[in-house]
Amino acid sequence: MSKAYVNTDRKGAVAVIRLDNPPVNALGHGLRLGIASALKAAEEDAGVKAVVLVGNGRCFSAGADITEFGKPLQSPNLADLIMAIEASPKPVVAAIHGTTLGGGLELALSCHARVAAKDAKLGLPEIKLGILPGAGGTQRVPRLIGAEKALKMITSGDMMPAEEAKASGLVNEVAGDLVDAAAKLAEALADSGDLPRVRDMSVPGDRDTFDKAAAALTGRGRVLPAAKACVDAIKAAIEMPFDKGLAYEYELFKQLVSSDESKAQRHVFFAERNAAKVADMPADTQAKPVSSAAVIGAGTMGGGITMSFANAGIPVTLIETTDAALKRGLDTILANYKRSGRTPQAEIDRRMGLITPTLDIEKAAGADIVIEAVFEEMEIKKEIFGKLDRIAKPGAVLATNTSYLDVNAISAMTKRPADVLGMHFFSPANVMKLLEIVRGKATSHATLATAIAVGRKIGKVPVIVGVCDGFVGNRMLGARLKATEQLLLEGALPHEIDAAATSFGFAMGPLAVSDLAGLDIGMRARRARGVRAAVADAITDAGRYGQKNGKGYYRYDEADKRKPIPDPDVEKIIVEASEKLGIKRRQISQEEIIQRLNYPMINEGAKILEEGIAQRPSDIDVIWVYGYGWPAWRGGPMHHADQMGLKTIRDWLAEQARKSGDASLNPAPVLDRLAREGRGFASAS
Ligand code: 3HC
Repeated sequence: MSKAYVNTDRKGAVAVIRLDNPPVNALGHGLRLGIASALKAAEEDAGVKAVVLVGNGRCFSAGADITEFGKPLQSPNLADLIMAIEASPKPVVAAIHGTTLGGGLELALSCHARVAAKDAKLGLPEIKLGILPGAGGTQRVPRLIGAEKALKMITSGDMMPAEEAKASGLVNEVAGDLVDAAAKLAEALADSGDLPRVRDMSVPGDRDTFDKAAAALTGRGRVLPAAKACVDAIKAAIEMPFDKGLAYEYELFKQLVSSDESKAQRHVFFAERNAAKVADMPADTQAKPVSSAAVIGAGTMGGGITMSFANAGIPVTLIETTDAALKRGLDTILANYKRSGRTPQAEIDRRMGLITPTLDIEKAAGADIVIEAVFEEMEIKKEIFGKLDRIAKPGAVLATNTSYLDVNAISAMTKRPADVLGMHFFSPANVMKLLEIVRGKATSHATLATAIAVGRKIGKVPVIVGVCDGFVGNRMLGARLKATEQLLLEGALPHEIDAAATSFGFAMGPLAVSDLAGLDIGMRARRARGVRAAVADAITDAGRYGQKNGKGYYRYDEADKRKPIPDPDVEKIIVEASEKLGIKRRQISQEEIIQRLNYPMINEGAKILEEGIAQRPSDIDVIWVYGYGWPAWRGGPMHHADQMGLKTIRDWLAEQARKSGDASLNPAPVLDRLAREGRGFASAS
């Protein structure tokens, strides 16, 4: 039987058209066709006075079907459907619940009125996909809420809760009994003969205020094409007649949708959703219920992880070994909550109240999930897991936050390795969205499913990875750090390397990031592995540990402790290191720096894929976008590699390996094979 997409029922003289395209009522061809025919039927039915549009399932509609972008348009397109609704001789009222986004909101805006459920959230998130609202959003929203508010809504992509939408004029009513209220309003409109259309309104608000807000947006830093297009389209709403503005918006939409930036951002959207799918996990695998957590270690990582649980409303026991460490940890958590200035005191109190500090590890017994976040020392971790095996309740998930140690060796300390895995958070753990979930050889599907569900609940983007030194992100970072060290030795200075990285799109360059993270951490990790790095070692030997002591690859002033300032002392250290190794320094171009930072890392990514440490190339992209600041509009390293062409990268690596004698630069076999076949990583997933 073919899928229905909509079903229609009646409430008296009102036809209720229900959108039925699970899971999010994306407005694909089938649904558009379904709505158009149901609307026509209602218009032709003499017994129908008015129409209500409502979504079945969890939301009204999440917008256009993103999978259709870049494919030939099938009629009716969204714009045609929207025109048909607006032109309906019978009033159409949208009854909105859940997330009403993008084209879904644009559809609602073409109706003659809108009623929202209390849980409704309205937004135009197109900018996050590198496009602008292309079905009238930039023309209708300013007419309803004013140009300045529309600018903020459209360029942030943020969602607006129902009550705020009512207050600003985006919806007419907020109601408990959604369909009833919408049907009543529809009937009242029919009785009054009134067919209000947003297109007939003019844009309220002060032009100067809008211009200032627009200039502030486009005047700072890198402005992506989608942001500029949003501003231009809203200007058109102010300046042009409605139909001209609409045509202009659609022109901009067509240009953006075929841009590399938008393709990359759409890639990241789907990559994020795929990253937690486990190929061999049976569909009926159930996550275990988690209503309490314990975190062992109140240092920077443990504190951030604890905050993530408290933020999600999950009670969490924070375990330390000394009063002083526990107090320091709690003080830092409190200071972090206060620092943003955005969390009301009552909310801070509530979250702090969810944290139970203790020096007694036995208290981990009550937790459904225990996360160990102590020093990166195998012996300490093994000891803790031995204890947890005795203490934790049966079935509890036991996770280590190690960033490179062997999860299998840790789980072997327990008699329940199926319950053990890695949950590798990124610093600051209360902010960074990436969560590498490290699957040990004995980790059960239920344990994995639980970690994924918990990760999502605490606002993270989980990605499944396998066990190896550094897992995915840090292993690739290792390749980049090695390249950075070599660049410094051959002639580049820290600020030149960082400038190349920021020109590529990173918010921060690798050396500024190292300073932020603390150079002593890298030093300890190198020592543990017996690795030497001439420049990095000389910098830490000189007592330069990064931002924490005001000097690292840069120096930092009291006036702004976070602003890196190039330091002649560092240049001296670097030049001496080059001399000691007999390396003749030279000027290195920005283009070369970017290649040398990115391509070895992509090669490492290829090896990671080959070894099955990452399930898909797109998982690697998610890790770099959410954990390491890779610009989403460049899609992640593996997507970028596909865009550059794998042959270019393979040839470059082969040449570098030959010139430098560094075998790690030899192209990975999978990269070589795909390049020979003229294919990209995406085709191999
Ligand atoms: N098109 C196609 N598929 C979509 C989709 C869309 N707009 N929105 C969600 N999906 C898919 C997801 O890929 C996922 O598929 P999967 O189960 O196969 O992995 C499934 O729906 C469920 O999505 P989530 O896992 O993200 O579910 P959540 O409940 O966590 O989140 C959501 C729901 C908030 C709606 C989130 O999916 C979301 O943000 N969706 C995108 C919204 C968006 O960007 N809308 C604008 C689209 S562009 C547009 O409308 C252009 C117009 O202006 C012309």
